[in-house]
Amino acid sequence: MKRLFLFLGKGGVGKTTSSAALSYYLADKGYSVFWFSVDPAHNISDVVGCDVSKAKQVYKRLFAYEVDVGRYLQLYIEDAISRMKRLYKHLSVVGLDKIVESMRYSPGMEEVAVLYSMHHVLKDAQDYDYVVVDTPPTGLTLRILALPKLNIEWIGVLRQWRLKILERRRMVASIKGEEALGEGVAVAPEEDKVLQELAAHYKLMKGMWDLFSGDESVKILVVNQDKLSIQEGLRIKETLKDLGMNLRAVLINKFGLFQKEISEIREYFRGVPTYEVPFIKEKESLAIEDYLTIGRFWVEEVLK
Ligand SMILES: Nc1ncnc2c1ncn2[C@@H]1O[C@H](COP(=O)(O)OP(=O)(O)O)[C@@H](O)[C@H]1O
Ligand SMILES: [Mg+2]
Repeated sequence: MKRLFLFLGKGGVGKTTSSAALSYYLADKGYSVFWFSVDPAHNISDVVGCDVSKAKQVYKRLFAYEVDVGRYLQLYIEDAISRMKRLYKHLSVVGLDKIVESMRYSPGMEEVAVLYSMHHVLKDAQDYDYVVVDTPPTGLTLRILALPKLNIEWIGVLRQWRLKILERRRMVASIKGEEALGEGVAVAPEEDKVLQELAAHYKLMKGMWDLFSGDESVKILVVNQDKLSIQEGLRIKETLKDLGMNLRAVLINKFGLFQKEISEIREYFRGVPTYEVPFIKEKESLAIEDYLTIGRFWVEEVLK
């Protein structure tokens, strides 16, 4: 994979349209492209005009896929249950399954499910030249981008706590003897299953963090010539900056449809290249030719 593209912006500005334009444009140039959606309200199928709940070739070497995020949430929960059972055998008496199963409705699980699904889908998409993501609404996308960093920080804290527990165990063992700890209770960090779990989780989160924050993932902001989408765009720009992530381009989409002064918009996003993408025409749905036209206004520049 040469690049991963992510689109951010207010609902309705044209994120799906821009991701479609990029995907068709790259495919038209002969590249292999994997275009997938993790938006719970998918609309890739509306663009391509067929069901893509299984990955399907839709144009030249362009493959489209709408991820069933709910299924990944189920897989994640099943995986969590089996890991916890392995770690804490005694917990089965308190109905561990039910506790973990109820996690499904806990705040933050949607982010976890999307991140988990992206991790799996991206693993399988490594051989494509380009991977394009049709992202969910802004708030959710930003939380997904932030999640790996948060996890990495928390894993660091949990690791320290765990090491303290092992230290206490060592003290008990030195006073009362190893047998006082009971069968299979680890003392050495390298034998401790909890530390191993934390290390595995760290690896996954570090991989996602490196991918999201590195230059191989290209973050593109889409706005329209109107106040609200620009205000939201500015918030997105600030959040990305706080996360230490770069914004590669601002697409001023549906150019000509609204009135906001273009020089003013450019000034707001100073330091980031901006591209004007015309409002093609008012119609039910755009055709492949329309997406290729939209792509001509910015794709080559952004690839540089
Ligand atoms: N440049 C454009 N020219 C014409 N119509 C556009 C353009 N960009 C987006 N649209 C239309 O605007 C609507 C919203 O676009 P969409 O890509 O679904 O937004 P988002 O994914 O950000 O919610 C769609 O009907 C789409 O066809
Ligand atoms: Mg969309």
